[in-house]
Amino acid sequence: MSTGTSTVTVPCTDTEFAGRAALVTGAASGIGLAVARRLAAGGAAVVLADLDEEAARKAAASIGSTGARAAAVRLDVTDPASAEAAVAFAVRTFGGLHLAVNNAGIGGPSAHTAEYGVDDWRRVLETNLSGVFYAMRAELPALVAAGGGAVVNMASVLGANGFAGSPAYTAAKHGVIGLTKTAALEYADRRVRVNAIGPGFIETALLADLDAGARAFLAALHPAGRLGRPEEVAELTAFLLSDRASFVQGSYHLVDGGYDAR
Ligand code: NAI
Repeated sequence: MSTGTSTVTVPCTDTEFAGRAALVTGAASGIGLAVARRLAAGGAAVVLADLDEEAARKAAASIGSTGARAAAVRLDVTDPASAEAAVAFAVRTFGGLHLAVNNAGIGGPSAHTAEYGVDDWRRVLETNLSGVFYAMRAELPALVAAGGGAVVNMASVLGANGFAGSPAYTAAKHGVIGLTKTAALEYADRRVRVNAIGPGFIETALLADLDAGARAFLAALHPAGRLGRPEEVAELTAFLLSDRASFVQGSYHLVDGGYDAR
């Protein structure tokens, strides 16, 4: 029925990523695994890259059993050569790279800034910030070579908020947003879109060590009254990677149950 208004509807179909190859880092569990599944369900050929190679292989086999195209590769995001090798693997395996999700990350210990260990600081920054830089350094030329593409970097709601006890994590995630904006400016004219996502606290292995009290405390920080699910982050990721987000460039998008609105 016509409403008389002019609307443009771009449908989300299960083939919207058909013919595109995606690389997802940290894809063996949690948010990365949900993203890999969501992209495969949309028709993408997906490379699951993770430090835990065996878990990545099992996940790729499970996705492959649905009829989708999936492959696994060992990746250590703290090693620039490993990032180059993972991108080369994706190009070799699926004929190019069109989509990249830089999601691998760690939490690090909890300690106030003056007590935070220097080695822990370096490990968290190297994984959560330098890891995104090393990955984009390898991915961007491949995306340009493919005629364009899209990148999503997994920041956090702590990319725009402080959090007592997590100086390295919050600093790294703030850095991911700056890196995202800069790459977006640099590559927009080569048809590559680069955006970042800020999830609230999500039910994954990253929170596995928390006791019930700590979980309840974190859940209460979200006006939604609960922690998020990996699939809810995957849905926003898929949107940002899709042509439905064709004018979304260099920005930071929350999926946080209202955390940042407080
Ligand atoms: P997770 O622990 O379930 O998954 C992280 C994955 O990254 C694991 O499979 C792990 O093996 C992999 N990984 C760790 N170090 C790596 C390295 N050096 N090289 C390659 N892979 C490595 O965690 P989750 O929650 O799925 O986190 C994914 C991303 O989402 C991270 O960047 C995290 O900071 C971010 N995030 C998570 C939130 C949460 O509450 N779970 C909230 C906001 C952001």
